[in-house]
Amino acid sequence: MIIAEEVSFFYPDGTKALDNLSLTILAGESAGIVGANGAGKSTLLNHLNGYFLPDDGKISIGGLAINKKNIETIRQQVGLVFQNPDDQLFTARLYDDVLFGPLNLGMNKQDVDAAAEQLLRNLGLWELRDKPPSHLSQGQKRFAAFAAVLVMQPPILVMDEPTSDLDPRNRRKLINLVNTLQSTKITVSHDLDFIWDTCNRVYIMAEGRITAHGATREILSNRELLEANGLELPLRLQPDFPVKI
Ligand SMILES: Nc1ncnc2c1ncn2[C@@H]1O[C@H](COP(=O)(O)OP(=O)(O)O)[C@@H](O)[C@H]1O
Ligand SMILES: [Mg+2]
Repeated sequence: MIIAEEVSFFYPDGTKALDNLSLTILAGESAGIVGANGAGKSTLLNHLNGYFLPDDGKISIGGLAINKKNIETIRQQVGLVFQNPDDQLFTARLYDDVLFGPLNLGMNKQDVDAAAEQLLRNLGLWELRDKPPSHLSQGQKRFAAFAAVLVMQPPILVMDEPTSDLDPRNRRKLINLVNTLQSTKITVSHDLDFIWDTCNRVYIMAEGRITAHGATREILSNRELLEANGLELPLRLQPDFPVKI
């Protein structure tokens, strides 16, 4: 269970990015976090693996408060897939990127090799394992970034805008992948149709706080609520979709 209690966070320039935010996400939940640009979503995600620490309030994961002392333990619990795969992939060979995290955590090399191979085969990346990540397509990079996180089998998977830059086929592939994962999942996305397909609960963020939450279908079909928070209905619920010609 992830609990944030009255969390506030200021950037060095004084911007208040989280404003007394409270939130509870249950173990096993697939939570979608939605909100307009600048609502504070990425700032919140960066708190979940201790990359940022709150200026006020506290966050705990499975009863363990996130602080400087237990950051290593927290990072073994929480796998964060960054919005930009280039922030995740930094070695000269895709395979080394996938092995980096688990070897760094001291996991057994043979076990890691076996897990990495299976994962890369499932994601259609095995043949590309010797390529530099910079030579991969955007979609391949996205899946490579997922592989680098999933290989550690984190009990909590956090994703920031996972479908940006994916073509429709890869987007569908990602929906299927996410839906087969048993971990607790937290997804930030502007792609409300993706949230609809992968999340059972939705939290709306605006101005650094949670303004509404509930069952996905209830929240994402509430046009007034979405519009009040700078959002629109998922495409599939918009009256002129699919466009008839
Ligand atoms: N490094 C930074 N320095 C100062 N302000 C920032 C920084 N990063 C983000 N912000 C501000 O914090 C607020 C929340 O940003 P962010 O968490 O990135 O929003 P979102 O991910 O919802 O679009 C915005 O007002 C943004 O301008
Ligand atoms: Mg963001």
